Amino acid sequence: MIESHLRMVRRDLQLKMIYPVIYSMVVDRVLLGIRRYVPEFSGMKPGDRVLDVCCGTGAQALLYGQMGIISWGIDMDNRMIEFAESRKARLRLANTHFQRASAMNLPFKDASFDHASISMGLHEKEQSSRDRIVGEMRRVVKKNGALVIVDYRVPYPRGLYACVAKAAEQMAGKEHFKYFRDFLEDGGVDSLLIRHQLREEERDHATRMPIALLKVRNV
Ligand SMILES: C[S@@+](CC[C@H](N)C(=O)[O-])C[C@H]1O[C@@H](n2cnc3c(N)ncnc32)[C@H](O)[C@@H]1O
Repeated sequence: MIESHLRMVRRDLQLKMIYPVIYSMVVDRVLLGIRRYVPEFSGMKPGDRVLDVCCGTGAQALLYGQMGIISWGIDMDNRMIEFAESRKARLRLANTHFQRASAMNLPFKDASFDHASISMGLHEKEQSSRDRIVGEMRRVVKKNGALVIVDYRVPYPRGLYACVAKAAEQMAGKEHFKYFRDFLEDGGVDSLLIRHQLREEERDHATRMPIALLKVRNV
């Protein structure tokens, strides 16, 4: 009886960790180049306070921490936060923090950060949620601080990588794909910036990948 219960607990724990492990093996590897480029692209320095919103496995926030940046990562998925915490412990990073929280209601005071980033977290949301998240990022970043947005390019490019990414979005489920299409039809990050009366300061995109990086000053 006890043995079968323990087996069940062990199986649940394994299942719980499978999603972040696979995410880390696939997506974090594909995005590694972009993640390494984000701090330089946005002008982050050691000692800056930076929030990564919808942080997933924590890969970006951990990279910030390894550079001496004081970083926070928030995500609403407990499995991701637990995975991020375990990687943080392995790296012995004292300046990196993770918290389970909603991007729509960030648990931080106004103007708490020098920068906030969000990577691949907006295209999977409906328009009102995308607006709300950007509004929350603006609230917690100091005036003249920077927001960094990494997400799909619009117009969506052609080519092998773009096809593979689109197929992955489709495989993620009907609702997920609906929001992805809505994000592209709405004009992607550019429309978001117009609605928030923000102007991009810099833009770059990953070679071959259908992903853009935008740096925006929080005016
Ligand atoms: C596509 S993943 C991107 C993860 C990571 N930023 C990256 O670049 O790989 C989207 C993440 O957003 C998280 N997420 C979705 N909605 C959220 C919300 N309202 N608040 C916080 N996290 C959210 C999901 O749990 C997931 O980890």
